[in-house]
Amino acid sequence: MNYLDRNEFNFEPSQLVVDTIKNFDIRKFAFYTRIYDQGKKSIFSVYLSEQFHIDEQQVLLGYGAEDLLKKAVHYFLTVKGSNGIMMIPKFSWWYYSNIADEVEGQTIQYNVIETDDTFKYDFEALERQVNEVRPKILLVATPNNPTGNGLTPAELEHLCDIVPAETVILVDEAYASYVTSDTTYIKHLVETRGNIIFCRTMSKFYGLPGLRLGFGFIGKGEEMERFAKYANMYLGYDRLSEEVGIAALKSGDHYREIARVMQEARDMYKAEVGALDGFKVYRSVANFILIKYPIALKEKLQQAFADEDYKVKFMNEPDLNTHMRITLGRREQNRTICDTILRIAKEQ
Ligand SMILES: Cc1ncc(COP(=O)(O)O)c(C=O)c1O
Repeated sequence: MNYLDRNEFNFEPSQLVVDTIKNFDIRKFAFYTRIYDQGKKSIFSVYLSEQFHIDEQQVLLGYGAEDLLKKAVHYFLTVKGSNGIMMIPKFSWWYYSNIADEVEGQTIQYNVIETDDTFKYDFEALERQVNEVRPKILLVATPNNPTGNGLTPAELEHLCDIVPAETVILVDEAYASYVTSDTTYIKHLVETRGNIIFCRTMSKFYGLPGLRLGFGFIGKGEEMERFAKYANMYLGYDRLSEEVGIAALKSGDHYREIARVMQEARDMYKAEVGALDGFKVYRSVANFILIKYPIALKEKLQQAFADEDYKVKFMNEPDLNTHMRITLGRREQNRTICDTILRIAKEQ
């Protein structure tokens, strides 16, 4: 089966990642890390701190980005004085409202507006809503799953300016490495704001969803320091994962080459599927693409993908239920999906 339904990685890991796993000294598992003696969390957080030029104390580590998101949402929705409200984008990952529900928090959606081939924030409407609702958390995902749209660093900064200081801006950047390797805006924002958290992951661009390794960066100040105490592990992190994480981050060229294959796939979908009547291919800056299709073709498409041994994600959300989200895979996988869509569309 070809899984193109959960934004996983259909490519090979870098040689350095393979070698790091093969050469791992298993005796390290007999001991906790000693880096705690230096007041640090992990060799991975130290490496991240050097790469992003951000103080190690402002680096978070977790069991995937899902862990960091869950910790942040649980903490800030239940901390003393919190009203337990989180605002999330209208179209977004189902997980956000689930984790708020787990602590009996409330999620309120804010609108994102569909334009010709993407979705945009309405900053004025958002500012009004934030000032009315005064949420403890404003979640933004950039790029957003499943719509694929993102915010520029200037837009993120603008968001920080219009949101009250008591609201924590939780930025899910699981797919951000596809957009740019420039991370100076993260350093700038976490050094100048006390109410921002960035979450990233090794699962997407670096192709290691099964490793369960995520990382994040927090703003400065007492509130964030208290959150870091809550989120950090006292006895260290998985000693194999931290080495593999560093190896993957050191293999940028390998993963950028894969991102280039994904760009070819976006262009192919846009040119070929985008030209079909009743289909719309949205702009994407992540490892998936959102496509609107004529709903009458749903069963035929599902059957045709299954016949080819492929799984893609058919969306069911309100206002997003004639859409499919397709993970960008290897060239031949993308070609098969594209050809299948073209064939079914022509049979109409
Ligand atoms: C928007 C978004 N954030 C976070 C994640 C979680 O990634 P991780 O594997 O790091 O938990 C996903 C996974 O699909 C995602 O789509």
